[in-house]
Amino acid sequence: MRKNIVAGNWKMNNDLAQTEALIADLKAQTISSNAEVMVAPTAVNLFSANAALEGNAIEVIAQNMHFAENGAYTGEVSAAMLKSVGVHTVILGHSERREYFNETDELLAKKVDAALANGMRTIFCFGEELADRKAGKEEAVVESQIKNALFHLEAAAFKNIVLAYEPVWAIGTGETASPEQAQDMHAFIRKTLANTYGAEVADSVSILYGGSVKPANAQEIFSKPDVDGGLIGGASLKAADFFAIVNAF
Ligand code: 13P
Repeated sequence: MRKNIVAGNWKMNNDLAQTEALIADLKAQTISSNAEVMVAPTAVNLFSANAALEGNAIEVIAQNMHFAENGAYTGEVSAAMLKSVGVHTVILGHSERREYFNETDELLAKKVDAALANGMRTIFCFGEELADRKAGKEEAVVESQIKNALFHLEAAAFKNIVLAYEPVWAIGTGETASPEQAQDMHAFIRKTLANTYGAEVADSVSILYGGSVKPANAQEIFSKPDVDGGLIGGASLKAADFFAIVNAF
């Protein structure tokens, strides 16, 4: 069966001292759920975060990477570099990367290919904007984001893909998709996967929900049959809140 996953996306927060302090707080918490737990510090702190969490069940993952192996891409980080500091999972396609750094489906397809070619697991993010939902186009938007970036892959590649549905209107806004809205979209995503890759692949892929998940709403969202976990922004910056969400499973 597919895994439950709760991942904290720290975004551009926490310098080295703050990273070490938050990790110390996380290590003091107890995982009492069956969820895999991950945290994504900023790139410059991946090495020290990984060292601080050695031997701990919490996996350190990256927020982004470039598609090239190396070369003249000033300011960028490659899959090989991530692996060299012990990082084996990368978030790709976050809406903030799409919006502020012009990441397109086409670019993301190349990043996904690079991650998979390096044996890395990808948490692939997508989600509609408020205007899309108001226009009743949320399923069409999500379907095209997934198809354009992922549907060139062979079925076997999906063992290293986790999907993260993050409606843009729910990110950092305090406005969460209702558990029913999340379930409806996750079921649609699974159906879209099944139509192309078959039920076995569709049933094996974890689909996370992201967007204003908090200790107070996590349990209800995670109780939905097609919601396999969460990608957590703001609430992942406090160890107690993050673990209240982790332990909501
Ligand atoms: P918030 O939990 O702060 O809404 O952020 C969600 C998110 O973007 C996780 O990647």
